Amino acid sequence: MEAIPTLRRYALAQCRRPSRFTSPIYLDFLAPTALRSQRRQASSSGSTGAPKPRYVLSRKQREFLDSALRVNQAGELAATLIYKAQSPQVVRSYPHLRPLMKHMYDQEAGHLKVFNNLVAKHEIRPTAMYPIWEVAATFLGWSTAALGREAAMACTEAVETEIGSHYNEQVREILMWEADAERRGEELDEELKEMLATFRRIRDEELEHLDHAVANDSKEAKPYDPLVDAIRLGCRTAIKISEKV
Ligand SMILES: [Fe+2]
Ligand SMILES: [Fe+2]
Repeated sequence: MEAIPTLRRYALAQCRRPSRFTSPIYLDFLAPTALRSQRRQASSSGSTGAPKPRYVLSRKQREFLDSALRVNQAGELAATLIYKAQSPQVVRSYPHLRPLMKHMYDQEAGHLKVFNNLVAKHEIRPTAMYPIWEVAATFLGWSTAALGREAAMACTEAVETEIGSHYNEQVREILMWEADAERRGEELDEELKEMLATFRRIRDEELEHLDHAVANDSKEAKPYDPLVDAIRLGCRTAIKISEKV
């Protein structure tokens, strides 16, 4: 759990870092100019077996990725803080849950690190709501754990349901780009392909957390429906706000 302050310091330091990637040889898939010139070169090589031209993202697609990465970073920050706030209370009453809570926390810390790196690399503005989400996530984790193990697990169930489907939407969107690239005889940027694989892996890990929550009696929380509905609504609202702000 000591990793949290380090991760937060790292995230904030990365956000404040001055612009670094200004070299024309830096080929960022979020920088269409560089890719267009590469595509011209690839097209003009003309020989059979030459690499396919690179698929250049439209402005709308770049804006989609920009807000997706901003939301993902905020969501993973919230997830680490929820588990950090829940774990002491849950583990005190149910010591056998220590390895599970640590496992889920460690995965969330890994996800946060991935998005801190991507946000810094592509110079994406982190959400201005960052400090608000920190307080809200810590309160959510603390208060659900105070209600008991079942409520803490219901919180995980609610959050992971929303986050899992959010990652799914991102995967679906990039798969549509891949199909579009295929139709044009082009290819997605390597880093975008890696990002697709990363989103899929993280989505699967979030859904694994959801399964753990259900296996540990999330459905026994009282009152289950209002609690889960309120948390899911809160997650959807936080996602919508972080996409823009
Ligand atoms: Fe996560
Ligand atoms: Fe998760």
